[in-house]
Amino acid sequence: MYLDSGATSQKPKQVIEAESDFYKSTNAAVHRGAHLLAEEASIAYESARKKVADFIGAKVEETIFAKSATESINALAYSFGNSLKKSRLFIQPGDEIVVSEMEHHANLIPWQQLAKRTGAKLRWFSVTTDGRLDIENIESLINNKTKIVAITHQSNVLGTIPPIKTIVDRSKSVGAITILDACQSAPHFKINVSELDVDFIAFSGHKMLGPTGIGVLWGKEELLLEMEPFLFGGSMIDSVEMESATWAQLPRKFEAGVPNMAQAVGLGAAIDYLNMVGMEKIHQHELKLTEQLLNGLTHIQGVKVIGPTDLIDRGGVVSFIIDGVHPHDVGQVLDQYGIAVRTGHHCAWPLMRKLNQVGTTRASFHLYNTAEDIDKLLSSIPLVQSYFKVNK
Ligand SMILES: Cc1ncc(COP(=O)(O)O)c(C=O)c1O
Repeated sequence: MYLDSGATSQKPKQVIEAESDFYKSTNAAVHRGAHLLAEEASIAYESARKKVADFIGAKVEETIFAKSATESINALAYSFGNSLKKSRLFIQPGDEIVVSEMEHHANLIPWQQLAKRTGAKLRWFSVTTDGRLDIENIESLINNKTKIVAITHQSNVLGTIPPIKTIVDRSKSVGAITILDACQSAPHFKINVSELDVDFIAFSGHKMLGPTGIGVLWGKEELLLEMEPFLFGGSMIDSVEMESATWAQLPRKFEAGVPNMAQAVGLGAAIDYLNMVGMEKIHQHELKLTEQLLNGLTHIQGVKVIGPTDLIDRGGVVSFIIDGVHPHDVGQVLDQYGIAVRTGHHCAWPLMRKLNQVGTTRASFHLYNTAEDIDKLLSSIPLVQSYFKVNK
């Protein structure tokens, strides 16, 4: 019983077949060969891009394939650090970069590093004891010095969805660039880049029924045009002399080298699958499971939910602790009952420190989970407590 989709989702057969069919019958380097196979590969790759773009309400030129969300966010931070002085993306001492205490390391460390390299100051929203983003001091936190605001769309630990509109409105009023880590949102509910009105979004294919090795970086066209490439080499150029080069049009300016073609095609198949089921249906299904688990957990003595205990602005990720038992032990015993959950700090160490936890046990869902899965988890928790003799 798999309750670890927050780490990576399982893949439907359609995705596995799309990837393997690409290798069997369409494999050639995209955008390079003059032969038919290369043309077919390019069509398959570009059609996957169109599916991704449509999925998030974006233009295809603004939709860039990367290896993962981690790579997408690192690419942004690296590129900003290389910006020309006249660019809006140029970061210098005195500038401020705002993140939050609930960020995954992937949306924290690249910004720490950028701050270190440029002399900018890293600042952050704190998290309330009930696992919400504390926006009380938003006016002072996001101010005229703020250059970048990089925030998660949904916490991978708490399930919390921060008030993105409030943050984006404030960021825009001071001219800051907004970046959304959509790793835990894009796989589970409909997102639309125009409605969100952020400047950049990053997410990974493998959490949304797609393969590993493929992620997405979306950015507003005018900013992508202004941004420096972060990888240099084949396919990303317009023309090359011995001492200089110019860049290809978007999105290829940011896709140097032979890309992860089969993985992109697999992601396209994953998006077809998500669309076939319907994102709203998936979202409602996961909310129902979340409600069932939250209700059940609050009725077990010695168990505490870490994060919001209601369904307001939260998604299908539920962290909890069992008094007197280390999360790793919880995970190990649950595994004996055939239940796969994630335990530990979930790549969000500062959040754990803030919440005074060494780690949590986390159950996270996708469309294939059922009410029976939740029942089984709930009925296994007292067994964990008995095993460690903590339910006396
Ligand atoms: C919120 C969040 N951001 C970023 C990442 C990094 O994703 P990836 O490892 O696919 O690059 C994860 C993965 O767990 C995540 O949950």
